[in-house]
Amino acid sequence: MNIYINDKPCKAEVGDLLLNAAKNNKAHIGYICGGNAICQSCFVYVLEGADCLSKPGEDEKAFISDKLFDEGGRLACRTTIAKEGTIHVLTRAEKLRRTVLGLNVPEFITYAQTIGYNVTNKLPSGVSNIVSRVQSGRLNPADSLKKIAAGLGPASLLVASNFIETFPFMQMPLDMAGNAAKGALDAAGSVARDALDTASGALCTISDGRVHLPGSNCPAHGPQEAIERVTIKSK
Ligand code: FES
Repeated sequence: MNIYINDKPCKAEVGDLLLNAAKNNKAHIGYICGGNAICQSCFVYVLEGADCLSKPGEDEKAFISDKLFDEGGRLACRTTIAKEGTIHVLTRAEKLRRTVLGLNVPEFITYAQTIGYNVTNKLPSGVSNIVSRVQSGRLNPADSLKKIAAGLGPASLLVASNFIETFPFMQMPLDMAGNAAKGALDAAGSVARDALDTASGALCTISDGRVHLPGSNCPAHGPQEAIERVTIKSK
């Protein structure tokens, strides 16, 4: 059967996890936590074919408000294709990209309000869901931490690349952008590097020195191996 992820036609079978269908077809759905229903980077809007998907389980209900469910929200790492039909999903990142590119201010405000409402209202149930899964042995914190650390590097590059693609003026040569822009970019780069090093130091402490963020400079263990740059092309 065919499903469409951000309008890209993808091959999938009944029984496939939505996240795996995306991976198999090289369609982008994020999975920073490795599919453990923690990070919500795999959040998608189901535009068509909701009846062809599995019903939301407890892990999804803990993180997604009724309002977001009404808008078609699902976690791709917890959603399975249940029957044949046409399925069309839009990732959260792609929805935001289209809203920004369309300069649709009212839609952007509504979008931000909905996400803010969801975070405020579902944070307690989301945290308690994670705690209960750890206590019952359904979630291994050490394993999840490693997956999150491995995913953070590519994810941060993805965000940076998407930002540059979304705002084309960021691609102007620096000599045209002027010294002011160059200074701003240098400052932003420095802030980002500091944030990466700080996060890596925190991970190092939590994991007793076993986990670091790629490309960071851990205060205790020095420079960590960098990863290959991810290049994203705009449509
Ligand atoms: S991959 Fe993290 S919540 Fe689905």
